[in-house]
Amino acid sequence: MSHISVLLHETVDALVADKNTGIFVDGTFGRGGHTRLLLSKLDENARVYAFDKDPQALAVGAALAAEDPRFEIIHASFADLSEELKARQIEAVDGIMADLGVSSPQLDQAERGFSFMHNGPLDMRMDNSQGLTAAQWLLKIEEEDLANIIYQYGEERYSRRIARAIKAAGEMTTTAELAEVVKQAHPKWEKNKHPATRTFQAIRIAINKELEDVEHFLPQAVDMLKPKGRLAVISFHSLEDRLIKQFIQKESTLPEDHGWGLPQKQVDTRRLKKIDRVKASEQEVKQNPRSRSAWLRVAERLAP
Ligand SMILES: C[S@@+](CC[C@H](N)C(=O)[O-])C[C@H]1O[C@@H](n2cnc3c(N)ncnc32)[C@H](O)[C@@H]1O
Repeated sequence: MSHISVLLHETVDALVADKNTGIFVDGTFGRGGHTRLLLSKLDENARVYAFDKDPQALAVGAALAAEDPRFEIIHASFADLSEELKARQIEAVDGIMADLGVSSPQLDQAERGFSFMHNGPLDMRMDNSQGLTAAQWLLKIEEEDLANIIYQYGEERYSRRIARAIKAAGEMTTTAELAEVVKQAHPKWEKNKHPATRTFQAIRIAINKELEDVEHFLPQAVDMLKPKGRLAVISFHSLEDRLIKQFIQKESTLPEDHGWGLPQKQVDTRRLKKIDRVKASEQEVKQNPRSRSAWLRVAERLAP
């Protein structure tokens, strides 16, 4: 199944603003929906660099790069943004976007092991060329740490008993086995939600270091933006959205004066100006239910 890009025009329009050339970055290429629209708005001197961890996304990106000399795909995490761009002699860029989380092909292909809906090997790695699979990771992790992860990243109330059941089950090799263990351990099923939804989300976030990557990415993105350059980030769950919101808040607000009553000159350390936050339209949600939980946040780099 292909990927339907979420908040496509909203994101790209906000990113380019009134520009028609420059250097732009897509932190999450996926199947290239946002990148392709971005390229269509830029002239022949522009450059677009896209990142993805996923070898399948990389292959699609390589095909696009062969067609369009303005484009390059980078097989790396956006957490390594500055290093990868500097290795290409890029010191500053005109806009950076990211559309976080997993793509539809990752979720829908049983062999990627992300989903309890399609039985497959218990993998869940975005970059399946390296690192531990979910099956290997579950064997290594301590029960208490697993419970904390399910609680924090899955916002799952029954994290302790689910973690206990997973560790008691021992080696599991398929997504169906894990889904069944969680289902049996879960005392209270939510309406219209598989009882393993939250646990799968938590394990996926942990093994792909999704929140750490976003935390590393955001300050680098601001460092790399030229004045008036835009940052546009789409998130799909509250943990990620909170990180982005708080980061933009901190970078766009004057620090409090902690002068203990002494006269003190306030230093303006603000680097961003808030531009917008956007939810998918009713029409988009109807056409693509995945967009229901999406939030786009946009900010602009201030002159240093
Ligand atoms: C929601 S999809 C992006 C879809 C894309 N905007 C499109 O229109 O086709 C997210 C993609 O980001 C990739 N990804 C997630 N976290 C990443 C990270 N830290 N670094 C690089 N790629 C990442 C995933 O592998 C996935 O392909």
